[in-house]
Amino acid sequence: MSLSVRQLHPMFVGEVSGVDLGRPLHTATLAELWRAIDRQAVLVCRGQDLDDERQMDFARQFGELEIPRSGRADVKRRLRPELSDISNLDEEGRVRERNDARRFDQLGNRLWHTDGSFRRIPAALSMLYAHRVPHPGPLGGGETEFVDLRAAYDALPAATKAAIEGLVALHDIAWSRAQLGFTELLFGEKDVLPPVPQRLVRMHPGSKRKTLYLAAHASAIVDWPLPDGRLLLRELIEHATVSDFVYRHEWREGDLVIWDNRCTMHRGRAFDEREVRDLRRVTTRDISSTLDQTA
Ligand code: OGA
Ligand code: MN
Repeated sequence: MSLSVRQLHPMFVGEVSGVDLGRPLHTATLAELWRAIDRQAVLVCRGQDLDDERQMDFARQFGELEIPRSGRADVKRRLRPELSDISNLDEEGRVRERNDARRFDQLGNRLWHTDGSFRRIPAALSMLYAHRVPHPGPLGGGETEFVDLRAAYDALPAATKAAIEGLVALHDIAWSRAQLGFTELLFGEKDVLPPVPQRLVRMHPGSKRKTLYLAAHASAIVDWPLPDGRLLLRELIEHATVSDFVYRHEWREGDLVIWDNRCTMHRGRAFDEREVRDLRRVTTRDISSTLDQTA
């Protein structure tokens, strides 16, 4: 089987063809996929036929799975605990109401972020599969946008690079939700997910390139006054998300998109929420905190 990769954006993002991801991968194919992920940071794989089991089996070949915040025994959910439910459906498969608290929580995904940075050992790869996608409407089509934070780092002025070297940011799930005015944490996170420190500049292990590590979850810079830290984070996110760095993915059913959270950010876009959007994500964990990795 020969896997080929077509570049979809000048800086990153490859479209992979010639591989059925629903079947166990040969060692050589797995290695090729890793090489493509390390280089491209985002891979688009169209026309895949996955169910939840096959999606999880695919992901397990890349690392240990992360359990989502809502994947607790006492939380009622539509999908099994290993899957992040990136849909607008409730436990009974009905479209969520506008004032549904779970919907508010999910709206945090519309802010530029990287998955799981609020965990001490954060996420590595996310793999999002499209079961149903809405028609494009006046508000948008529920696209997902990505940026390459290595390219954003490279483009910083030398003085900024020097000024941010060695800084540590606090990442806090409560902060990304509070930015939208949603302060009610739904899954007991206050006790189990306190703010955690992560390097602001890290080395992306797969490409050995330096990268910013940013997210809507980043709430402060350690040892800096709060307003200064927030301004710096905001300015860096603004810098990283100018249109030159952005790839916008227009979903088709059967797409699996894989991204490396260690060197990218992403956000979901608006859509007509009377329509069903059913995407499901499986995520792998990194092996250590960014503080324990070489900068
Ligand atoms: C995600 C995510 C945004 C979206 O799956 O991690 O943030 O709705 N998705 O496309
Ligand atoms: Mn996300």
